[in-house]
Amino acid sequence: MDAFRIKGGTRLTGRIRIDGSKNAALPLMAAALLADGPITLRNVPELSDIKNMIRLLSELGCNIHRDQDDPGTLTIENADVKQTHARYDIVRTMRASVCVLGPMVARRQRASVAMPGGCAFGHRPVDLHLRGLEALAARIQLREGDIVATADRLQGRTIFLGGPFGSSVLGTANVMSAATLAQGKTVIESAACEPEVVDLARLLNAMGARITGAGSPRIEIEGVDQLGPAEHTVLPDRIVAGTYAIAAGITNGDVILDEFPYDSLLAPLDLLDNIGVHVHKLDNQQDPFSCSVQVTSERRLKPCVLSTQPYPGFPTDLQAQMMALVSLADGNSIITEKIFPERFMHVAELSRMGAQLIRQGATVMVQGTSSLIGAPVMASDLRASACLVLAGMVADGDTTITRVYHLDRGYASMEKVLNSMGADITRYQVDEP
Ligand code: UD1
Repeated sequence: MDAFRIKGGTRLTGRIRIDGSKNAALPLMAAALLADGPITLRNVPELSDIKNMIRLLSELGCNIHRDQDDPGTLTIENADVKQTHARYDIVRTMRASVCVLGPMVARRQRASVAMPGGCAFGHRPVDLHLRGLEALAARIQLREGDIVATADRLQGRTIFLGGPFGSSVLGTANVMSAATLAQGKTVIESAACEPEVVDLARLLNAMGARITGAGSPRIEIEGVDQLGPAEHTVLPDRIVAGTYAIAAGITNGDVILDEFPYDSLLAPLDLLDNIGVHVHKLDNQQDPFSCSVQVTSERRLKPCVLSTQPYPGFPTDLQAQMMALVSLADGNSIITEKIFPERFMHVAELSRMGAQLIRQGATVMVQGTSSLIGAPVMASDLRASACLVLAGMVADGDTTITRVYHLDRGYASMEKVLNSMGADITRYQVDEP
């Protein structure tokens, strides 16, 4: 198993480019299941979750070609439409596999997808996905651990898709994708507004779908009979971008980030600015969703009050990284998790490094301290692992992080990227019982 050894006390300087978004790419790839003809996606990041999606789509009868000269370009062709089973072996490695459900039942009249289990940050139901597809007249059953959805042809309907924690990103992706081939008009109320949903609607429209309103809580979809080939460039990864901006801030660095999705990160950038980490566009004429920015930081950081929220609020996927940052602020911060109330796996590990954290339910009080101390810690989920890397770079002494396969799910060669800006991180193999 791979592990990281991080020498603390480095300062990041330099310039990197932000890769394409994993969370956008996964439903975009699944959308190829809807098409008659090839779908070409550019700017697909090289991550283990993407490899898992390639494996899943291959098992589902798609031919997938990776451009030899540009590994970020994938062409996916929906070839054998008789395959309809997404096995637990793959689904359990990646919950996002559930986003093949809607496209498959819409185009192949049947989808059998292993029910995703729990995950490191608690119970993650898929009831909204199922409620939405049922509203479109899919028949849903649970058989031997698989969700089995069948439909002769889906029927457009008005659907309320809100749940106890607000909207669902992949739930919206599933229902919106399925509704493209439904008979008649579908309206999704309380749809997720995340940029990844907008990117998916853009691809679906390029395939011939008729979607309006993506990016707002009300999405309207006029069903069509068939979808065709299309080409699409995946938007930059706002969570990777935010993580590297926080990395620059925590090391008191000075870095330039290219293809930075500035306008998708307004909530975290506003908070970072108050804390003392400043992100400036280098040129105001550029595309605000993919521009070059400079990140600088004040030596003394201020504390913050942060609640995670659905987009455009502060993203839950940056909560852990932010906790590492404000653990070094002058004063007490309060962080409340409103999307996944159990998403605090990093609290115990950060505490091992000297962070002063007091958790009560879905809230953590962070008492700022003047330094963190290197320690052996364990990665537990993707973003929690990123938080430990950030803490390790600024800690006194060495930090070792085991189970970095969690990181490889969402950050391409993170150690190489950070080392190119002056970090000192070594990847090595470790035997774990
Ligand atoms: C996506 C992202 C993930 C991010 C999350 C929230 C991908 C691949 N993953 O996950 O990185 O942290 O959005 O921004 O894009 N819920 C229900 N019932 C459902 C579905 C969700 O109650 O059927 C709840 C969840 O438990 C959670 C909240 O709704 O409390 C939001 O989850 P959701 O937006 O669905 O997360 P994902 O789409 O799975």
